[in-house]
Amino acid sequence: MATKLVEGGWPEGTIVRPTLPGKDYYDVQNYQRELEKIWFRTWLCIGRVEEWKNAGDFITTQVAHENVMSVLTSDGQIKSYYNVCRHKGSRLCEGSSGHFHQGRIFCPYHSWGYNADSGALIRTPNLPDDLEGFCRDDFSLFQVRTETAHGFVFINFDKDTESLEQALGLPESFDIYERYHFQRLRLGHKKSYVVEANWKLIMENALECYHCSTIHPELSRCTPPTIARHWVHDEVPGTKILMHAGAMQLAPGFERMTMDGVGRRPFFPDITEQDRKGIYYFFIFPHLFFAVASDYVFYFSAWPMAGDKTLVVGHWLFEPEVLENPEYDISDAVDFWDITSVEDWKASELVQQGNQSKAYEHGGVLIPNDWRVGKFSDYVRNELAD
Ligand code: FES
Ligand SMILES: [Fe+2]
Repeated sequence: MATKLVEGGWPEGTIVRPTLPGKDYYDVQNYQRELEKIWFRTWLCIGRVEEWKNAGDFITTQVAHENVMSVLTSDGQIKSYYNVCRHKGSRLCEGSSGHFHQGRIFCPYHSWGYNADSGALIRTPNLPDDLEGFCRDDFSLFQVRTETAHGFVFINFDKDTESLEQALGLPESFDIYERYHFQRLRLGHKKSYVVEANWKLIMENALECYHCSTIHPELSRCTPPTIARHWVHDEVPGTKILMHAGAMQLAPGFERMTMDGVGRRPFFPDITEQDRKGIYYFFIFPHLFFAVASDYVFYFSAWPMAGDKTLVVGHWLFEPEVLENPEYDISDAVDFWDITSVEDWKASELVQQGNQSKAYEHGGVLIPNDWRVGKFSDYVRNELAD
């Protein structure tokens, strides 16, 4: 009997090849290099525009040892600054979110004050205005580039890199998702997970479904991995950081991508018949995974905390009407990806443990089903190369 291949197979020319060596998943120097070459030079998604409601609202983001505060200015932009006082370097605000009263940011150490709209230093207690050798204008907060696309907010530590639009290849690269109107969707639920695994393992796991039938009984019931995918590569171009992974098809009897497959919310209004029967996956490197179902979108962002530890933040997006109407329940979608995610984190932690062994010094092997993992490894390797 012929073997039924996961996702219907792999692209022509896919070869068996080695993984990255084990030390790339824990070595401190390698981790530092990844921070410099990837994390501090690439667009990173810090959230959804609707998370900032009023001028002065801020959200902080921890990226390894850096912390960034992103604030909604009085003219409606989201601006980001390093969360570092220009006097002695104190963190300015603690916590993951809050509000800067009257648009002022005060340092908790010696009370220097900054304008949240511009980052300008506006208050230095007990310093004469004409103090020789000191000019307030020289000590504004350092900015971090911030741009938005389709309702998602991105930052980039690199002042000189290409725009978000160029990096994502917009608008063409998003044609296929246009009918989902990501811009219009709203955040219905958010949950953070600390995973004891290197950030690359989190992404690599999401990039293959070879593991689905072993560790995801719920997901595999809903979208059996052996039903061939609906590929989209010919329709939509990817970029260096954007990878489309096509659509998996719902099993007969399933109307939705949930535990029991029962439809409890309307379909997204503009999607096709074919869209209704599947779920699209795409990735934005280095740290985003998207699952685009017919009535909700789940995505996660992964953030390195250390070489062997990652914070993963799951987000569930819905039509605004669904969130406003108490008759609609979103818990089936939330539970589905919460359960599936926890299964993935457990697997990733086991891989981390094995990768630190002498037995994995030279790494393992990528089989054809892992072909997207291979592409991701190439991306990482290319970025790290000088
Ligand atoms: S460190 Fe911020 S005012 Fe001194
Ligand atoms: Fe998985």
